Amino acid sequence: MDRIRIVGGAPLNGVIPISGAKNAALPLMIASLLTPETLTLENMPLLADVTQLERILGNHGVDFSISGKRRGETENAGRTVHFTAREIVDTTAPYELVSRMRASFWVFAPLLARMGECRVSLPGGCAIGTRPVDLLLMALDKLGARIEIENGYVVGSAKNGLVGAEIDFPKVTVGGTHTALMAASLARGTTVLRNAAREPEIVDLAECLTRMGARISGAGTSTIEIEGVTSLSGARHAVMPDRIEAGTYAIAVAMTGGDVLLAGARADLFQAAVDALVAAGAKITETNEGLRVARNGAGISPVDVTTAPFPEFPTDLQAQFMALMTRANGVSRITETIFENRFMHVQELARLGAHIRLDGDTAVVTGSDHLDGAPVMATDLRASVSLVIAALAARGETTINRVYHLDRGFERLEKKLSDCGAQIERISGQG
Ligand code: UD1
Repeated sequence: MDRIRIVGGAPLNGVIPISGAKNAALPLMIASLLTPETLTLENMPLLADVTQLERILGNHGVDFSISGKRRGETENAGRTVHFTAREIVDTTAPYELVSRMRASFWVFAPLLARMGECRVSLPGGCAIGTRPVDLLLMALDKLGARIEIENGYVVGSAKNGLVGAEIDFPKVTVGGTHTALMAASLARGTTVLRNAAREPEIVDLAECLTRMGARISGAGTSTIEIEGVTSLSGARHAVMPDRIEAGTYAIAVAMTGGDVLLAGARADLFQAAVDALVAAGAKITETNEGLRVARNGAGISPVDVTTAPFPEFPTDLQAQFMALMTRANGVSRITETIFENRFMHVQELARLGAHIRLDGDTAVVTGSDHLDGAPVMATDLRASVSLVIAALAARGETTINRVYHLDRGFERLEKKLSDCGAQIERISGQG
């Protein structure tokens, strides 16, 4: 297995291109199951999760092809990938394919909506607390599907098609909202989603579905109305920029100091985190090319944050922000309200000398003026990148093991950071 070696202490200076968003790319790829025509997605990130989902879709009969190089294109241009589900040849998503990534469960909705049946293994993915699918299934049940659990598989049927309904989510769920959007687009009649997720990735999916012929209004607010249509067509859509990747590198610059342009990043996609970073002492300016993040001289101020659904502070930046707070001039409180057990990075950060005390769903972080490099272990996607951030500011050398977690969600991380002056390299597992 590969490892990443970092020698801390260098400030970051330069340009970091922001890739297409993983959390938008995955549901957009899944939406290709809804139509026999070609869905072309531009700005696709090259990530392990994307490759794994290509495999899963391929098993259902989706052909995909990648456009060749274009004139003037740099290595930072996202790929353009064409997905065509002319015929769904298999409505089962097997355990071997689905168990590695939770979002792959979302194929359930389009398979059911288009084919009237499906069988999908219960999901795996990051080990961050129990992550059930009860609300996804509740939504499909409301749309008239019959749902049963058999030998670790969820089996859905809707022989006469899905029927529009009112769906009230008792809790905000991104996956539940994606699921309901896709299923309701091909249901008969009108569906109203209440307490829907407002995440920008939901808006991106809704825009793509609309290009495919769906009738959706209200995406980005908590009430979404969908007028079902009998079929959807192909379309062309560009994946939105990754706000979590942008937030992660913004936090890295706040941590190390320096001055970096996050090319293609948009502050409105993660304003709560931008505000927290400014409060911590970073200078953030919007430019035509993206966001410029700098921190010169002054130290890091402690800032309390609480994760919550969009537009509040994202849970996917919680670990990274905690890493930053380990170097603050004082005590901060970081509260996680979305996932239980999403504090696995705490004990690894402690190995680098961080002072963090857990108090229920809150981590109390006492900043210190230095961290020291050490061997650490990546435990999940966002936790592992928090270790990278801490290591960039630690004295001496840190090796991060199990970096396959990083490859799931961060495109060319070590290249993007080393181009800005970080001392970071990948050590191949073979060596
Ligand atoms: C998505 C993101 C993930 C992010 C999360 C919250 C993708 C691929 N993943 O995950 O990176 O951390 O949103 O912003 O986009 N819940 C239930 N029952 C359900 C579904 C969810 O109880 O059926 C709970 C979860 O346990 C969690 C909360 O609802 O406590 C929010 O989860 P959800 O928004 O569904 O997360 P994902 O869509 O899986």
